[in-house]
Amino acid sequence: MTVTIVGAQLGDEGKGGIVDVYGEAADVVVRYQGGDNAGHTVVHEGETYKLSLTPSGAIRGKQGILGNGCVVNPNTLFDEIDALRERGLDPDVRVAERAHVILPYHRVLDGIEERAKSESDDEIGTTGRGIGPTYEDKAGRRGVRVGDLLAPEVLRNRLERVIPQKRAIVAEVFDIDVDDLDRPEAFDVDAMYEQARAYGERLAEEDMVVNASAFLADAREAGQNIMFEGAQGTIIDIDHGNYPFVTSSNPTAGGAAVGSGVSPGVVGSGEIVGIVKGYLTRVGSGPMPTELGGVVGDTPGYDEQGAGENEELATHIREEGGEYGTVTGRPRRVGWLDLPMLRHSARVNGFTGLAVNHIDTLAGLDEVKVGYSYTLDGEELMTMPATTEKWARCEANLRTFDGWPAFDAATVAEEGYEALPENAREYLEFLSDELDAPIFCVGVGPGRGETVVVEDVWE
Ligand code: IMP
Repeated sequence: MTVTIVGAQLGDEGKGGIVDVYGEAADVVVRYQGGDNAGHTVVHEGETYKLSLTPSGAIRGKQGILGNGCVVNPNTLFDEIDALRERGLDPDVRVAERAHVILPYHRVLDGIEERAKSESDDEIGTTGRGIGPTYEDKAGRRGVRVGDLLAPEVLRNRLERVIPQKRAIVAEVFDIDVDDLDRPEAFDVDAMYEQARAYGERLAEEDMVVNASAFLADAREAGQNIMFEGAQGTIIDIDHGNYPFVTSSNPTAGGAAVGSGVSPGVVGSGEIVGIVKGYLTRVGSGPMPTELGGVVGDTPGYDEQGAGENEELATHIREEGGEYGTVTGRPRRVGWLDLPMLRHSARVNGFTGLAVNHIDTLAGLDEVKVGYSYTLDGEELMTMPATTEKWARCEANLRTFDGWPAFDAATVAEEGYEALPENAREYLEFLSDELDAPIFCVGVGPGRGETVVVEDVWE
């Protein structure tokens, strides 16, 4: 059977922890979109591992697949595999022949475009990993796929066609001399050909390249359990998110089928677990109707630290929840749970169950609020509007819940759901009713043993 894990909000919902808990019974863990823009931390036998591309199940001896919907930077992949090997692990990672390859010029272009946009305050705040430029080339039918790395002639022809175009963009559109760049070789056909061939040789030597669709069909035939590990989140999905403040792929559940080569029926007949943080965080710019306080430089129109009405509360939640970017250390914007956003997310993904994280972070507050609906132009909306411009004008209508006291996470995780404080259960049940999906598990702390599992998704 299959289990698909999807972020219901803006990313950073704690998917890694849930993949870890439910991944135990999986045989194969598949990433179906995105690339090394993700980041998750896995603690295994007392050791901490940080991965951005390798499916986290690889640490636990599962087969990891990077599906055709991914964009793969072989440098990152090899570095992560080498680092795991140095620590005594033997990761088994396969890469789809149809996946697209992030080459050095994609990363350079990502940086150049973001810098140019920042001059007019229009930057997306990308991770700078070349994700957008690589998906652009995929859609533009000029990308280099993993299979091409093993076909010297195809590869050479593609690079000879594409690289002069990239040079022209740098020179003519951005008015930059390629030779003045930190990495001018990224725009040199011979250098990129050599680099790409080296990637191909290692992938071939280690027998890592597969037809993911056929591979997964065989795995299903053999009765194996397959987990689809979504990265990022629904509200930064290129189609269903708050465009243009999005990533360039489809983290939503439909992406699991398209991005791995299994049929939608296969994904739909398994479980689709929506990962929800018990409140909301956002990195970078863009609307956030339930925001508390603000972060200078990120919250639109907010440039004075300390001016927010609920600054103290925001700071408290940020500190308790460790809401700082894993790589950059940037403080995340914090707000109450946003139900119009989650109703949209539940509709788009068809969640069969919910995993709600950070219920411990909210413990000790007198009251906990949720954005129940929005008001836009005098009308009440139950779900978020489709344009970011309208979303930015929405005002959240809040509902208030009584808070719950602090509790011992390990005890609750061991004793089960009923051991959670009553008001926390009330909050969770309200959420479950509103989204019409049962609670599958509740995260009560960062550790692996700090998850209250209500439902075994594989049964
Ligand atoms: P990109 O994916 O690097 O192109 O970045 C596009 C947008 O998605 C930016 O706002 C990023 O902050 C956001 N983003 C990308 N990956 C993640 C993630 O794993 N968690 C949260 N936000 C992300």
